[in-house]
Amino acid sequence: MIRRPRRNRKSQAIRNMVEETRLSVKDFIFPMFLIDGVNQKVEVASMPGIYRYSLDLMLKEIEACVNLGIMAFDIFPAYPESKKDKQATESHNPDTFYLRAIHKIKTTFPEVVVMTDVAMDPYSSDGHDGLVENGKILNDQTLEILGKMSLAQAQAGADILGPSDMMDGRVGFIRNVLDENGYTDVSIMSYTAKYASAFYGPFRDALDSAPKSGDKKTYQMDPANYYEALIEADLDTEEGADFLMVKPALAYLDVIRLLKDNSNLPIAAYNVSGEYAMIKASAQRGWLDGERAMLESLLSIKRAGANVILSYFAKEFALLGK
Ligand code: PBG
Repeated sequence: MIRRPRRNRKSQAIRNMVEETRLSVKDFIFPMFLIDGVNQKVEVASMPGIYRYSLDLMLKEIEACVNLGIMAFDIFPAYPESKKDKQATESHNPDTFYLRAIHKIKTTFPEVVVMTDVAMDPYSSDGHDGLVENGKILNDQTLEILGKMSLAQAQAGADILGPSDMMDGRVGFIRNVLDENGYTDVSIMSYTAKYASAFYGPFRDALDSAPKSGDKKTYQMDPANYYEALIEADLDTEEGADFLMVKPALAYLDVIRLLKDNSNLPIAAYNVSGEYAMIKASAQRGWLDGERAMLESLLSIKRAGANVILSYFAKEFALLGK
């Protein structure tokens, strides 16, 4: 035998040399859950190790992460039912706690990237990403609300807006609102191929944001569809997106690769709450090695073509000091 691929696997040092994919702490955005109040740190039952923080404790947690090299955070607020309404008014109330928090985080850590989510669900009494009328999600009326929310987040100091709502035309609409108001430097990371997935369950627990009726299948993509992601990618690109995102990540590695091979924009992937919960739950039972399963999944997301990974594992990864 002249060719023996095993020669390149014979020691750790050689394996290190021929390693094709390397994860870095710089790849990550750490999603964090924010609640109102002081001195609050409440674990999400279905996401062991992940907490909802009040701003004071979130600042401490961000500082700890920055010391580990994590420089980007995606902030998701949880609102009580009493603050929700059909129009998601709280999402752009200038005095609301999440906008104040974004401002505080940016002024405390100016070098950190703060990303925000643009969608109505955490503030909507219907629990949908868009405006609901007679059981239907209204597209164009929702854009007006998303525009107000985006402007409020930009005014608070957000660096990257993440429209996760999947309404048609929202990237262009938001870009226009931002530019007209002088926020030409605020970026848009579009949830380009966001699928109607079962893997968002723990996130909806964390925010109490599950839809009150129906599901999200008229706006989020059908898990059966692959080429349709290219239609979304073309639109988001034309409309001015700075990053294209695929979500979830692990069941959609083929879609990550598809977008990577068909776009020159940076591709992000969201390693979602259910993907985190699965590994944590089986590791807790001793059914698999949690650390190795985490590393292998994160690696697969990068190998598939993701330049940016949003993951609840970000801090755990950083703690390994790789
Ligand atoms: C809200 C939103 C969701 C996630 C991010 N933004 C949930 C949903 O669409 O129902 C999911 C994140 C996760 O599961 O980790 N539009």
